[in-house]
Amino acid sequence: MPLWDGRFSQSPAEQVLKLSESISYDRRLYPYDIQGSLAHAKMLARQGIIPKEDARKIASGLRKVKKELDSGKFVFKTELEDIHMNIEARLTELVGPAGARLHTGRSRNDQIATDERLYLRDQADEIGITVISLLKALWKLAAENETAILPGFTHLQHAQPVLFAHHLLAYMEMLGRDIERLMDCRRRINRLPLGAGALAGSTLPLDREFVAKELGFEDVLVNSMDAVADRDVSIEFLAALAIVAMHLSRLAEDIAIWFSQEFAFVEIGDAFTTGSSLMPQKKNPDVAELTRGKTGRVYGALMGLLTTLKGLPLTYNRDLQEDKEGLFDAIDTVKLVLSTMAAMLATVKPNAERMLAAASDPALMATDLAEALVRQGMPFREAHHQVGRFVGDCARKGITLAEADLKAMRKTIPSATPEFLAIFNPQHSVAARDIVGGTAPAQVHGQLLEWAKLLGMKMSRKSKKDAKKNKE
Ligand code: ARG
Repeated sequence: MPLWDGRFSQSPAEQVLKLSESISYDRRLYPYDIQGSLAHAKMLARQGIIPKEDARKIASGLRKVKKELDSGKFVFKTELEDIHMNIEARLTELVGPAGARLHTGRSRNDQIATDERLYLRDQADEIGITVISLLKALWKLAAENETAILPGFTHLQHAQPVLFAHHLLAYMEMLGRDIERLMDCRRRINRLPLGAGALAGSTLPLDREFVAKELGFEDVLVNSMDAVADRDVSIEFLAALAIVAMHLSRLAEDIAIWFSQEFAFVEIGDAFTTGSSLMPQKKNPDVAELTRGKTGRVYGALMGLLTTLKGLPLTYNRDLQEDKEGLFDAIDTVKLVLSTMAAMLATVKPNAERMLAAASDPALMATDLAEALVRQGMPFREAHHQVGRFVGDCARKGITLAEADLKAMRKTIPSATPEFLAIFNPQHSVAARDIVGGTAPAQVHGQLLEWAKLLGMKMSRKSKKDAKKNKE
C-alpha cells in the first residue's frame, strides 16, 4: 500500500500505477529532494515542532539514503510512485518512527516545486558553463583565422565581403545573450516554495526564511498558492533553452552549407563527420545536422509545458507531473549538442583561399562604389541608381565590374575617378567598414580582445602577427 493509504481499502490498479508513477524519471532529482529534506528537518527541530533527537536521526538516515542512491544500490519501488515517497519510505526503514516526522508541515506539492527549483538552479549554472566552452571554441576558430575573408550573405546570395571572424563573433554575441537569459531566469528560479504545504501554508510555525537560507535561495515565494501551482520558471528556462537551440541550429546550418562541395569553405575532422552505408565517397556533416534536428524536441518541450499549464485551475493538479520529462530531455539535449558542437569546432579548418575567391567577385563591392559617390556629395538614391545601371551594363557585356575601364564606367557613372577602379578588392572593402560593429579588421580585432578578456583567453603569437599585418 502507498504512504497515503489511510482512507483507502484497495491499492491502485496496475494501469493506474503505470500511468501515475514518476519514479522512472524523477529519480534524477534525488540529491535535491534530500537537500530539501535536510533543511526542512533542521528547521522543524529548531522550531520545536519535532524532537531534536528525531531530527538528528532523520539527518543521518537521509545521508545513508543518499549514499545508497549515489552508489546505485538504492532499490526504487514503482508502487511508491515518485522520488519523494521512495526516499521517505527507505528513510523510515532505516531510522524507524523518527522518519515518520519528516513530512510534517510539508506536501509533495511544495516539495516537488522545491526540488525542481534546486535542480534548475544547478542546470542554469552547468549549461552556462557549457555555453562558455562553446564560446571558447568559436573564439579560437575566429582568432586563429583572423584575416580570412568570405562572402557575407543575405537571402543566401552573395552580399558583401566580411571577415570569417566577424561571422563567428556574431554567434558569440548571440550565445553571450543566451547566458544572460539563463542567469536572469536563475534569479526567479532562486525562490523557496517549501512552506506552502499542499496549497494554503501551514498551521505549524514553520520558519521559511531559515529554510530558504539553508538552501541558498534568495527569498521565499510569498504566496503559497502561486508556489505550488505555477511552473513559469520551468517554461522560462525552456524558452531560454529553445533560443540556445535555435542559435546552435543556425550555426549548424552555416557549417553544413560551408562544408558542402559547392562551397567547400571549411573542412571538418573525420571524428565529427560520418560516412554513408552505401556511397563510399560520402563524408557527411551529421553533427551539424543533428544539432539542427534536435532543436525540434527542445521546442516541443517548451510547447508541451505551455500547453499542460494553460487550462489548469489553481492550484496543484496532477497534470503538473508532466512538467518533467520534456524539461529533462531538453536540458540533456542542449548540453549534449553544446559540448559536441564545441568539440567539432576544434576540428574545423577554414579554406581561406576558397573563401577569398568567392568574396572577390567585384559585384560584392557594388555598395562600396555607391558609397564612394556619396562621399563625393551625391544623394545615395542617385548613387544606387548609377551603380545599378553600371552593374546592368557590365552584365549585358558579359564582364565583371572590375573588367570595365574608366571610360566604360563613366558611361553610367559620369563622376567616376581612377580611384574607383581600385574599389573591387575584398581586403579594402572589409577594412573600409571601420565603424563600431563593422567588419573592419581593427574592429573585429577589438571584439576578439574584448571576448578574450571575458573568456580568459590569450591571443596566440600568430594571430597577433596577423592582426598587425591587417592594420598595415
Ligand atoms: N510526483 C508529483 C509531481 O511531480 C509530486 C507531487 C504529487 N502530489 C500529489 N498530490 N499527488 O507533481
